[in-house]
Amino acid sequence: MVRETGSTQDVARGRAAGDVVVAWRQTSGRGRDGRTWADTGLGGVAITAVAVVQGAWIALAAGVAAAEAIERVAPSVTVGLKWPNDLMIAGRKIGGVLIERDGEASLIGIGINVSQPSFDGELATRATSLAIAGARVDRLVLLEALLPRLDHWLAAGESATIGAFRQRDMLRGRVVRLRAAGSIVEGVVDSIDPLVALRIRTPAGLVAVEASTARIESFT
Ligand code: BTN
Repeated sequence: MVRETGSTQDVARGRAAGDVVVAWRQTSGRGRDGRTWADTGLGGVAITAVAVVQGAWIALAAGVAAAEAIERVAPSVTVGLKWPNDLMIAGRKIGGVLIERDGEASLIGIGINVSQPSFDGELATRATSLAIAGARVDRLVLLEALLPRLDHWLAAGESATIGAFRQRDMLRGRVVRLRAAGSIVEGVVDSIDPLVALRIRTPAGLVAVEASTARIESFT
């Protein structure tokens, strides 16, 4: 546990497999695609686990693990996964996963909003926390639930993880706008094969968008 750090990802770099860095307060958290992860207070869980497992599926494993941990400590909420690994409650983001490489190891960063009473600016309508969702949970209790679930899914492997992801896939049947290789595709999500392709039903027919190039811009 570090009292305060910019990013747990940086503290974890160079550490041994099996180590987990937990920040009491994280001041410059990183998100996917160069975004920031905004929780500079004491309201959330911010961890990085070091594992010698690689592959795009581990981001899904972290998302599934975090969703299960949240539901374990807050049984009144249901957590969906917005491909690839945003944790969602009632259409708003409660957590996210960032995977970075460190030699043979992966740095599995997980951030979850726990006790924030509200969010400012553009996050006001897009982010949520367990407190906003009506669940009062101690973030250390959530952390305690999270680590065994992460161990479980990293050991379970790719195919079991994909099955668990599919059960929580909240984009299926939703209207999305996504960017892929410089073009925009809009339509209803027909199915998601999370590591391969997203199939989108558009007015022009079914379009398969390669997962590695797709970025969801919005959904309704
Ligand atoms: C995202 O949704 O874009 C990913 C957010 C990941 C945030 C976590 S918090 C712990 C770890 N340290 C970081 O700097 N980022 C991840």
